[in-house]
Amino acid sequence: MNKKFTCVDLFSGAGGLSKGFMDVGYDVVLGVDNDETALKTFSMNHGNAVTMKLDLNDHSNLDTIVDFLDGRNIKLDVLVGGPPCQGFSYAGPLDINDKRNFLYLAMVKLTDKLKPQAVLLENVLGMIQANEGLGAKRVIDDFAKIGYKMIPKLLFAPDYGIPQIRKRVFFVGLRDSGEDFEFPPAILDAEHYVTCEDAISDLPSLQTETGDIIRGTELQDYMTAPLTEYQQLMRRNSEKVYNHIGAIPIDKTKKMISLVPEGKNYLALPDEYRCLYKYNEALTRYHSKKPSLTINTGHRSHFHYKYNRIPTVRESARLQSFQDDFIFYGNKTQQYKQVGNAVPPILGQVVAEKLKGYLRSDE
Ligand SMILES: C[S@@+](CC[C@H](N)C(=O)[O-])C[C@H]1O[C@@H](n2cnc3c(N)ncnc32)[C@H](O)[C@@H]1O
Repeated sequence: MNKKFTCVDLFSGAGGLSKGFMDVGYDVVLGVDNDETALKTFSMNHGNAVTMKLDLNDHSNLDTIVDFLDGRNIKLDVLVGGPPCQGFSYAGPLDINDKRNFLYLAMVKLTDKLKPQAVLLENVLGMIQANEGLGAKRVIDDFAKIGYKMIPKLLFAPDYGIPQIRKRVFFVGLRDSGEDFEFPPAILDAEHYVTCEDAISDLPSLQTETGDIIRGTELQDYMTAPLTEYQQLMRRNSEKVYNHIGAIPIDKTKKMISLVPEGKNYLALPDEYRCLYKYNEALTRYHSKKPSLTINTGHRSHFHYKYNRIPTVRESARLQSFQDDFIFYGNKTQQYKQVGNAVPPILGQVVAEKLKGYLRSDE
């Protein structure tokens, strides 16, 4: 029988990254975060995995994790994590000394204590691009000191079948290995990217025949059969639609967005309205024939390619490649945050699958 490789997820959030590992057969044993609601989502979607609410700024808390694994006699194969990245995010002020830029040290310390076969750290592009790649250099140097040669790689989500423009940096390091990890190659070219329409056109519109947006109910029926291969995959384990609640826009927003064609933003508005907006992604309507823009944690500025409303949590989750049976908990703001923070599970899957080829099953 094939051994199931064990995996711990630090800064797990809702667990998009480790869901990808789970989906290709890893045994995800633990998720750690300091956000209780995200941990509830993690727990409800990760089988028997345990969750721990810990502040990972405080490294004395890492012993709780070591004791848990010792107590269950679990030898860790892979440590994964997406430490917060606001200090390197182009969406923020890009402060290299931001305290949050050092949260990754919890991953270094835990790796040193547990010596897993491999470690995977995911982060924003700013890590390799801002300040001449200082963030990435810190990560690479700190892991090198404990015997892990981290290989960084920018992965572009659409290349792997995810219907969303999302660029993230992945670092993978192998323990005591002369080998460098080789990332999986792209599986799609730009002509074959999965589009917004491919991803979400089967979900209830939440719009009446006269164009009014409705809220919808907590649990809804699908209105059509799956219309694409991607929709088939998303609905594989699901009979109903959860987390698909419409946000009813105020009249002004509804009027403005109705004037914006697919793929355009507030710049497409008539002169008298355009000056009302400044943020460069304001009132962006997705393009049905393209992947969506990056799903973020706030999500008030992007609109459905067809309807005059923001995408629901479920639509955003689809664009992040979460299958429909992955249910998000908490209020709507918390749900959007969990979705926007996540690594697309399919991206986790492709890296996790490739990683198996480097792991020993006799440990
Ligand atoms: C980018 S998100 C991780 C998303 C996750 N990898 C996924 O795929 O769903 C970063 C997470 O770090 C957590 N976090 C922030 N500061 C923390 C701290 N001091 N201790 C523990 N977790 C923290 C946040 O609550 C958030 O869920």
